[in-house]
Amino acid sequence: MTATDLKFDLLVRGGTLVTPGGRVTADVGARAGRIAAIGDLGAASAAHTIDATGLHVLPGVIDAQVHFREPGNTHKEDLASGTTGAVLGGVTSVLEMPNTDPPTTTAAALADKFARLRGRARCDVGFFVGATAENAGELGELENQPGCAGIKVFMGSSTGSLLVSDDETLAEIFAGGRRRVALHAEDEDRLRERKHLAVEAAHPRAHPEWRDAETAQRATWRALALARRFGRRVHLLHVSTAEELDILAECKDLATFEILPQYLTLVAPDCYERLGTRAQMNPPIRDARHRDALWAAVTSGLCDMLATDHAPHTLEEKAKPYPQSPSGMPGVQTLVPIMLDHVAAGRLTLERLVDLLCHGPARVWGIAGKGRLAVGFDCDLTLVDLAARRTIRDADMANKAGWTPFDGMDVTGWPVATVVRGHVVMRDGQLLGDACGRPLSFVETVAPVVPA
Ligand code: DOR
Repeated sequence: MTATDLKFDLLVRGGTLVTPGGRVTADVGARAGRIAAIGDLGAASAAHTIDATGLHVLPGVIDAQVHFREPGNTHKEDLASGTTGAVLGGVTSVLEMPNTDPPTTTAAALADKFARLRGRARCDVGFFVGATAENAGELGELENQPGCAGIKVFMGSSTGSLLVSDDETLAEIFAGGRRRVALHAEDEDRLRERKHLAVEAAHPRAHPEWRDAETAQRATWRALALARRFGRRVHLLHVSTAEELDILAECKDLATFEILPQYLTLVAPDCYERLGTRAQMNPPIRDARHRDALWAAVTSGLCDMLATDHAPHTLEEKAKPYPQSPSGMPGVQTLVPIMLDHVAAGRLTLERLVDLLCHGPARVWGIAGKGRLAVGFDCDLTLVDLAARRTIRDADMANKAGWTPFDGMDVTGWPVATVVRGHVVMRDGQLLGDACGRPLSFVETVAPVVPA
């Protein structure tokens, strides 16, 4: 090595790295935002050094499903507050959903979101474009916009106006592009037929009865049959039932899927009795049978990735009588603590967690330069203390709604530093530096990089 080879912008010394080759105790050197060296860098120097002795160094965690509400509902969240929560929670990249107001359904709306990122985002961000009957013919072009994570379809109505409930439009969408399509799979006809159950019960414990397992399964089966017909790859967002897993196990050539930490951690009916409408989300948190099946998909390797569906609503909005109360809960800041606690309890290994939070989302969405600790990849790091014992608190949440469904939960394992492309953006719960987040690049787009 020459003397210049030993000069870095950032050195992370002595941590236990979770690499594709296994756990190694080594230093990481970053230059120009990328990992330039991994190994014993004893003689090296750097502008900034982190002593990671006793810590585990993970590839930067990716939360591939967040709703940051900008534009339109910035009283709930915005790109600045959402990405602040992300880096405080050890998350270095997010993929943001199109059900904003206006929804992200045109090239202009996508460009507007990228303009809003500049100087305000603390982590890297990609955006999904929402599918509608009106833009179905243009999605093949829209999905190729730089920084676009892909196309998202709401098959059942949830928060916002986006909805494609009929097979004809879905077929047009599947026929019209080539990247993987993200699906919110709940069957709209069945939701309408059963809404009276929610109205009559007037309590969120009826939420998984109204939006029952059959509602999710019907939509998933319809979508997979159509995807098969058109040979279109799809990704099932927030899979919530045991039966969907059986069919997804037969479709690994076509479909990837994700599970949410809240489905693995909270359970019906307890969550609705304890948390009321704070536990209300779509698809719903279900009973122990489904939770156990989801855990089996996590530990067996069947599940491709985890994401949070971070979807804040204010407590005032949540206080409306059910079912007028909106569905959704914050999650981006608690993803790493909740899942590390499951690691501490022996429910999954740290290696599997890295697969689910880093390798998985990078692979599913084709995110360039992210998701693993290797020379040449972006220097995105999530440093965690596996032994730290903390309590998750509403008061510590950066989301504008100011709460978490996990308030009061004691956990073992905590993110203690976040590095985005070589910038240390969080250390011991303190935000550092300016907002340096950038648009993500995707390997399948024609022009991968958003112009500066
Ligand atoms: O519970 C949910 N809330 N599910 C969704 O699909 C949307 C989200 C939101 O944006 O509020």
